[in-house]
Amino acid sequence: KGVAILISGGGSNMVKLVESMQGDHPARPVLVLSNQADAGGIRKAAEMGVPTAIVDHRPFKGDRSAFEAELIRVIDATAPDIVCLAGFMRILTETFTGHYAGRMLNIHPSLLPKYRGLHTHARAIEAGDTEAGCTVHEVTAELDDGPILGQARVPILPEDTPDALAARVLTQEHRLYPQALRRFAAGDRTRLDLAP
Ligand code: GRF
Repeated sequence: KGVAILISGGGSNMVKLVESMQGDHPARPVLVLSNQADAGGIRKAAEMGVPTAIVDHRPFKGDRSAFEAELIRVIDATAPDIVCLAGFMRILTETFTGHYAGRMLNIHPSLLPKYRGLHTHARAIEAGDTEAGCTVHEVTAELDDGPILGQARVPILPEDTPDALAARVLTQEHRLYPQALRRFAAGDRTRLDLAP
């Protein structure tokens, strides 16, 4: 199965996904695409020998449907079976999510359904939560909703700053996403629950 990975920045999750598909695996990376031309993940993907593409959202000046049509054109040229959002920071409309319905995954840095949207770590600390984590889910038209494939949990420590918690969660993202993708690509829908 071919996997297209969408990023906007450093692509640390993308790197772990690509590394996990080297060797015996039901999937292989066919594209790494970024909406940011200067995304560090693009260089990393090229170094790993994965085809890359840039579709900058700015020339489309808020015309989401034109931007998404271009995304779909570039992505579908590689005919992926699965699309993985990995630190992709653009909101996608139901046109895009519908086009990849049932075969698009996302990793979100909270224990969904808590803390959809942004600033998840600051919100969990602010709420006085004692644990946080990350979720891999199928992407549907609703933001950060959709069937959950797996979660990983970490403790929130008393002196945690959002950055300290983000780093702890990111380490678990790098464990969870590759395992969730492997199961999804193999047609295995048993839910993953990882403890630190
Ligand atoms: C991180 O905050 C991660 O929690 C979220 O996207 C951000 C960047 O991830 N998934 P990456 O390093 O670009 O994969």
